[in-house]
Parts: sequence; C-alpha cells; structure tokens
Amino acid sequence: SCAGKLSVTLEELSKHNKITDIWLAIRGIIYNVTAYVPFHPGGADELMRAAGIDATSLFEQVHPWVNYEQILQKCLIGRLVSIDPSINT
Ligand code: HEM
Repeated sequence: SCAGKLSVTLEELSKHNKITDIWLAIRGIIYNVTAYVPFHPGGADELMRAAGIDATSLFEQVHPWVNYEQILQKCLIGRLVSIDPSINT
C-alpha cells in the first residue's frame, strides 16, 4: 500500500477541513482523522478546531500525554513538507 508515503504541503492540508474529510498534522506527520471523530473523547467540535492545520500546539496545550501515534496508527497518510516560496518566483 501507499500508506504513509504522501508528502503534503500546508496548502493541500488546508483543503481537508470538513467533517467528512479531516486531515491534521501533529509533529510533522499527517493524519486522516475522519474515522476517528466519533471516538474522540473531547468531542467532534474540539477536533474540528484542528482540521486542516498543523495541530501540534493545540494538541500539546490540551493533552500532551495522549499517545496519538498509537491511536492514529491506521490514519497515517504522510508527512508535512514545507515549500520554499522562492521556488515558484
Ligand atoms: C480528550 C485523543 C486532538 C481536545 C482526549 C482524550 C484522548 C484524545 C485520548 C482523553 C484524554 C484523557 O482523558 O486523558 C486525541 C487525539 C487527537 C486529539 C488522538 C489527534 C487527532 C485534539 C485536539 C484538541 C483536542 C487538536 C483541541 C483542539 C480535547 C479535549 C479533551 C480531549 C478538550 C478533553 C475532554 C474532556 O476530558 O472533557 N483527546 N485528541 N483533542 N481532547 Fe483530544
């Protein structure tokens, strides 16, 4: 499978910000958390605050002890990459 092989920019990540299609980044790793929403102990609204963004600081503020790497193992789709803006000029 291609699981975990995607390189995802912040721009691409930002498109996945709907309840039916939620990606987020934690510490440079991109997760598709769409299927996890109903299981989040903090509720869907809280999780939606992190939809489509680098959610590292939100996550760390709320529950740094949570083992997201294990919980979201099967939701891992890739890594967050930064694109140098000067490349396209
Ligand atoms: C609670 C998982 C992202 C807000 C929890 C708990 C887990 C969890 C396991 C229970 C923790 C405990 O009781 O010790 C996750 C996972 C995330 C995630 C795997 C990654 C996708 C977030 C984000 C936010 C958030 C980004 C905020 C924007 C909360 C809140 C609670 C909570 C407020 C507390 C609920 C309560 O005790 O009333 N989450 N969470 N979570 N989460 Fe998350």
